[in-house]
Amino acid sequence: MTPDSKPHAEFRDLLEALCQVWGPSGHEDRVRALLLELIAPHVDETRVDALGNLIAVRHAAAGGAKGTGVDAPRIMVAAHMDEIGVVVTHVDQDGFLRFGPVGGILTGNLIGTRVTFEDGTVGVIGAEKRADQAKAPTLDELFIDVGADDAAAVTQRVGDMAAFHHRLDWSGGRPIAPNHDDRIGCVMLVAALRRFKPGPNTLVAVFSTQEEVGTRGAETAAYGVAPQLAIALDITGAGDTPKAPPLALKLGAGAAVKVKDGGMIASPALRRLMEERAQAAGIPYQLEVLTGGTTDARAMQTSRAGVPAGAISVPTRYGHSPSQVIDLADVQAGVDLLLALLEGDVSGLLGSGLTGSGLPGAG
Ligand code: CO
Ligand code: ZN
Repeated sequence: MTPDSKPHAEFRDLLEALCQVWGPSGHEDRVRALLLELIAPHVDETRVDALGNLIAVRHAAAGGAKGTGVDAPRIMVAAHMDEIGVVVTHVDQDGFLRFGPVGGILTGNLIGTRVTFEDGTVGVIGAEKRADQAKAPTLDELFIDVGADDAAAVTQRVGDMAAFHHRLDWSGGRPIAPNHDDRIGCVMLVAALRRFKPGPNTLVAVFSTQEEVGTRGAETAAYGVAPQLAIALDITGAGDTPKAPPLALKLGAGAAVKVKDGGMIASPALRRLMEERAQAAGIPYQLEVLTGGTTDARAMQTSRAGVPAGAISVPTRYGHSPSQVIDLADVQAGVDLLLALLEGDVSGLLGSGLTGSGLPGAG
């Protein structure tokens, strides 16, 4: 069977393209270049800000709220381009690299994992002999082996970053990749831009940087965009594997509508609207309560004078591991739900944002 004859061919193609691009936090240039190519035919304007966020606008239909489209509600939708990785902290005499984390690295996942540097060099993560081999190693006990016989043969330097080796595989129709977090959010946002029909709202799509080190890109992007409503697209956990943590999220059961995570409480009004739109359109969804972690929605929510914010998440097994697993039916549901929100009336739950005059509360 060719990929085209399988379900969700568009998402498959986008994932195949986006998951193989290298982009640990702060090094999103290649991801951004590809995204720009993908979205250019479907947006009215694009810009890149000082932190590297790619900001694309699809205007509301002329007419808008006050007859021009200028005052149409501005909805910011963010998906982050960066992925977790490691950064070289020291090169030893024998040519082994010591490293620190870029984002939430789980050491229990690392032994034997392949990592890729910007120049394509592949390394293997090895571990020192430990007193208790059954226990997860600490970062100090791990090193990267790049096949060099001594320090002189190592081309990497302190500060160089590596990402988990990029490889997309399919199991039972489900994609496995080291960076579904958050290339799948980027896939959803590209798909939404392609389908967006100008209506009552302006869509400001932001492909953000440095989410994994503290939602930093979304913070400056939100300040610049000054949205009146904000939605993040990102992965979340899943509780459907043997003896999993008690999480009411299941692969294939629909888009996850965020209620709360470790960093934010989603706007209850926005969450209710998401549920209403999903029910009205028959879009499968589940409610997400995550005890740890957060997304760009947190940065957008606390931007300027505050922005009503929420998130549509993709339930994910083995998040932040080299083999993250998702279900494309949930991705489809997420895109459908996002469009149902973007193309409908959201005037009941807007924050003040900034008006066309540039002054908060004016006009
Ligand atoms: Co993450
Ligand atoms: Zn993420």
